[in-house]
Amino acid sequence: MSKAIIKVSELRKDYHVGEMTVHALRGVDMEIYEGDFAAIMGASGSGKSTMLNILGCLDKPSYGEYHLDGVNMGKMNKNQLAGLRNNKLGFIFQSYNLLPRTTALENVELPLFYNSKVKSKERKERAIYALEQVGLADRMDHMPNQLSGGQQQRVAIARSLVNDPVVILADEATGNLDTRTSYEIMELFQRLNDNGKTIVFVTHESDIARFMKRNIVFRDGRIQKESAVTDRFNATQLIEALPVDEDYES
Ligand SMILES: Nc1ncnc2c1ncn2[C@@H]1O[C@H](COP(=O)(O)OP(=O)(O)OP(=O)(O)O)[C@@H](O)[C@H]1O
Ligand SMILES: [Mg+2]
Repeated sequence: MSKAIIKVSELRKDYHVGEMTVHALRGVDMEIYEGDFAAIMGASGSGKSTMLNILGCLDKPSYGEYHLDGVNMGKMNKNQLAGLRNNKLGFIFQSYNLLPRTTALENVELPLFYNSKVKSKERKERAIYALEQVGLADRMDHMPNQLSGGQQQRVAIARSLVNDPVVILADEATGNLDTRTSYEIMELFQRLNDNGKTIVFVTHESDIARFMKRNIVFRDGRIQKESAVTDRFNATQLIEALPVDEDYES
């Protein structure tokens, strides 16, 4: 692997709650490379979401440096950070975070509204293309409540892709989904990664982490262990091997 898209050094994050200080990150050095597909794993409270929020510029570190695509994020002001967040990062959350009473297409178009160079025709074309990539072009006029959980997560993935970000950050993106739907979402992530997309995926589930190329395990705010996944799962194969529920066969 080549260029570091993400590089953090000596990263610390303290939260102050009343008299108490929580050391959520206690000095993390980590690199994510172009084309990487890395799981951030670890027990509840180990600092995974804190790390992802800092990588996503939703939160600032208490100490340490963060370079994203060669830019020192600590030197950026609020407006610059908002711009970088919108242009360089795609986010996917456990709870989809789609706007209700807003069509799939409009949800996917949303990140492009912040870019004044993109006019409405191009905005729509790019959103449709992103929905095609997740296999949902035929549902673009549906509202979130007219879509299944897996489909809503696909819309969220399309929304994360529409700006062609340098990295996708996902936090427990399969956490609300059943096994088959989780595998289908992992199949989509594996295809995106095969096509070159860099992905950082937070999960506490070791079987989900086996779909990725690399596992980074957090413990008490530090990296405990990093390893390449040697016996990697192939989502397409696992889906084919799932038992067919005859009640639902057409
Ligand atoms: N906004 C906050 N204010 C105070 N403490 C916080 C805040 N966010 C997280 N923490 C604390 O920081 C530590 C790390 O939390 P974090 O959410 O990063 O864990 P996590 O690994 O994502 O856990 P989970 O698997 O449960 O999602 C925990 O002890 C948590 O209580
Ligand atoms: Mg978390």
